[in-house]
Amino acid sequence: MEFIDKLNIYREKINASLDEVLKVQEPKLLYEPMKYIIEIGGKRIRPILCEIFYRMFNGEKDKVLYPALAIELLHNFTLVHDDIMDDDDKRRNKPTVHVKWDLAVGVLAGDGVISLAYKVLLKEKYESCDHINRIFTEGLLEVCEGQGFDKEFETRVDVTEPEYINMIDKKTSALLAVSAKIGAACANVDNELIEIGNQYGRALGLAFQIQDDYLDIAGDEKLLGKTYGSDVQKGKKTYLYIKAKEKLTGEDLYKFNEIIEKENVTREEILTVRDIYDRNGILDDTNNEIVRRIDLAKEAIEKLSKNYDTKELKEFTEYMLNRKF
Ligand code: IPE
Ligand code: IPE
Ligand code: MG
Ligand code: MG
Ligand code: MG
Repeated sequence: MEFIDKLNIYREKINASLDEVLKVQEPKLLYEPMKYIIEIGGKRIRPILCEIFYRMFNGEKDKVLYPALAIELLHNFTLVHDDIMDDDDKRRNKPTVHVKWDLAVGVLAGDGVISLAYKVLLKEKYESCDHINRIFTEGLLEVCEGQGFDKEFETRVDVTEPEYINMIDKKTSALLAVSAKIGAACANVDNELIEIGNQYGRALGLAFQIQDDYLDIAGDEKLLGKTYGSDVQKGKKTYLYIKAKEKLTGEDLYKFNEIIEKENVTREEILTVRDIYDRNGILDDTNNEIVRRIDLAKEAIEKLSKNYDTKELKEFTEYMLNRKF
């Protein structure tokens, strides 16, 4: 079977299960937006990664479903609140929750989704329950820390590459690491293997966020389904921004700074930034960095290849490298 078909099978199973754990009840103003964010789409890569790790380590049949669903719910909670923080109006090609309803409903729906995540996580008892709980909760706090840095950096112009990497390690890699670690923990493997899951998730997450930065400005807006050029609009510290500050000189640097510092950036100005990135080799640098980080994720996989069947994990990693949305 082609990997893309396997992915679709995983995805359908996750979607059907999410449907079961999230039924609209009273009050509708809480449950309807919760259901909305889950139903409008999403790649479901985190629960899929969780399941791939679990299967690779030969976990007993179906002991991973609820923790995997909880991870996807946690992710959706971060998206609803992230769109408020980033003031974005489009997600998964649909209006964001706080735009379709309002800010208060956005905050509430996010609260509801993270509460449901915990309810689902604790639905069944596992041998490794305490450990799974700890990984999940520490991951959640780490994402919040990352989002805090992301916000703090909006008003700074001197963010360094190590600071940027630390920020994305927290806001994005932490949850991919949680996915791999919980998959491993559900299969009751020892800490050494859980730590390899952590290394893999961290490396993959850095590649994933740098790719997200790239797609924000160089991707196909329709495929991406998010507000185009949102990072330029908000003065976000992305990989491309960090490289621009290192590389640009003269007219390009002047123009770049002028646009980035503006209150309201037009679509034409976003395209100008894209062109500056392109002409100065920054799009190429970014693509090279994504490949380098994916290679680090592959190195983590190699540590498992002697004792486990890593075929699916390798296919998953390759799929992530080539994603367009
Ligand atoms: C978007 O995550 C947020 C980031 C961490 C970059 P995804 O790209 O996985 O979003 P969905 O769930 O597929 O919509
Ligand atoms: C996302 O970073 C990190 C989260 C924890 C949600 P972004 O703000 O770049 O994600 P998108 O581009 O809005 O999906
Ligand atoms: Mg955002
Ligand atoms: Mg954000
Ligand atoms: Mg983004």
